[in-house]
Amino acid sequence: MTRDQVEMVDIYIMGKRYRVPETLTIIDAMEYAGYRLTRGCGCRAGFCGACATVYRMEGDYELKVGLACQTKVENGMYLAQIPFFPGRKAKYELEEIEPSVAHFAQLYPEVYRCLGCSSCNKVCPQDIDVMQYIAYLQRGDFAKAADLSFDCLMCGLCVSRCPANIVHYNAALAGRRLYSRYLAKPDPFLAKRARAIKDGELDQEIDELVNADKEKLQELYNNREIEK
Ligand code: FES
Repeated sequence: MTRDQVEMVDIYIMGKRYRVPETLTIIDAMEYAGYRLTRGCGCRAGFCGACATVYRMEGDYELKVGLACQTKVENGMYLAQIPFFPGRKAKYELEEIEPSVAHFAQLYPEVYRCLGCSSCNKVCPQDIDVMQYIAYLQRGDFAKAADLSFDCLMCGLCVSRCPANIVHYNAALAGRRLYSRYLAKPDPFLAKRARAIKDGELDQEIDELVNADKEKLQELYNNREIEK
């Protein structure tokens, strides 16, 4: 498609109208409109969770949310920025808590208020079964909660929708920490790798990585050795 064939759409940023190509994501459209993003923008590839965004469509009262780097603009989109999604984070010393239901309930009592509405699942950009990992956390099954929440970006979109004010991503993080500190079997591959790094065996490999260009890094990543 040539530049002339690209359809233009009207979007509104902080109430001001801009005409932008419909092929752009929200982040790209904001930059196209002249905004310089120094916050709320990271990897631009749907991995870091920094760009969670709120918007409305013209004539529709519903507040929609999405990752700005993954959501395409649409005609009549009204965009606003909010500094972050507020979410409570329990304070704890990992060495002083136990992987038990009783302890977890003290850290994150709100997980027991889950209404089962599934709003968190519907909004998750990673398609994670958020409601199910909350159920695992409720019953202290930290292994299953850790596994199911592993791909969480911590973007906070689940929190923006939860009627029970659960902070899913922080609760899941505590679950993963409990699992890896107390329940997971030690990984021999990791220990071997850590020893090799400490002994300087990988210095040359690390230097090559630091000096590699983007194409080389992509090639290395795509052909990386994955532990069994
Ligand atoms: S900028 Fe990293 S997820 Fe969007």
